[in-house]
Amino acid sequence: MSIHSANHIILTGDRPTGPLHLGHLVGSLRGRVRLQHEFRQFCIIADMQALTDNAGNPEKIRSNILEVAFDYLAAGIDPKITTIFIQSLVPELSELTMYYLNLVTVSRLQRNPTVKDEIRLRRFARGIPVGFLCYPVSQAADITAFKADLVPVGSDQLPMIEQTTEIVRSFNRSHNCSVLVEPKPLLSSVPRLPGTDGKGKMSKSLDNAIYLSDTVDVVHDKVKKMYTDPSHLRPEDPGTVEGNPVFAYLDAFDPDKAGLDAMKAHYRHGGLGDTALKRRLLDVLLPELDTIRERRRLFARDPAQVMGILREGSRAARTVAAQTLEEVRKAMQLDYSSTN
Ligand code: TRP
Repeated sequence: MSIHSANHIILTGDRPTGPLHLGHLVGSLRGRVRLQHEFRQFCIIADMQALTDNAGNPEKIRSNILEVAFDYLAAGIDPKITTIFIQSLVPELSELTMYYLNLVTVSRLQRNPTVKDEIRLRRFARGIPVGFLCYPVSQAADITAFKADLVPVGSDQLPMIEQTTEIVRSFNRSHNCSVLVEPKPLLSSVPRLPGTDGKGKMSKSLDNAIYLSDTVDVVHDKVKKMYTDPSHLRPEDPGTVEGNPVFAYLDAFDPDKAGLDAMKAHYRHGGLGDTALKRRLLDVLLPELDTIRERRRLFARDPAQVMGILREGSRAARTVAAQTLEEVRKAMQLDYSSTN
């Protein structure tokens, strides 16, 4: 599907469980900054979804709402054109979830590959919380409340879009209507950024992330310690580019593609040391991060103002969600306020 062929509505977002890192910047934030100029974009800070596996740790979610908001704003998401909102401040989403729960079976949720993976990872000591098992249904509410037809996601979120599509079809069929809109995933074309340890994706839980909020010194240190090619011991040794995270980062951050190709050839051939390679990475990475860090610092100086932006966005989001909810209730014959 060409995304330029229509007037799309976009919904994306994150769980506020930690500050955002380079993986988010490359994989989603840059896309949002671009898309916000072309389409109507909503950006959800999914605090209720975050609570589904953090019920005992609400202060973590609470504090990370602002951290994520600072990261969004610092990365260039503009609240004048993107509606940034907090999930729990839009209670219409919870009501929609309640109705959608009747359209999904427990076994279907248990078969959701992402939910399955996460259950394995989380090892819930006291059994799987019902809210956790059902979060894909709540995510379907997030998407459909805004009639979003495009959801920019990583591949791990594809099962969520599929689940949403099934709910939309089931709802529209059951009620013989076209109130809900089927979403399509918009998969990022850039490969997922590996962690600094080169072991799979960058993530907070693997402790291999460079954060947008990291100081210059921390970034220096993390780059210096980055995994490269373990068999590339001396500069004159031939090195491997594939699977070398420094090159993955250069692919994402170095604007000089011809220069980068030359460096790759040089590295493969031998004669290019890791120190020089990492120097180049710092040269391209630090200026971009400086800009983001400086903007972040200005926003973080005034958390009340940023909370105001989120409250304002949530108000705007509520207006849209309430309209959809009204249509949903009508389709379900729950429109008791009318006289006939
Ligand atoms: N599940 C997403 C994550 O893990 C967050 C999220 C919640 C989301 N609701 C959404 C993403 C709706 C896209 C659309 O980060």
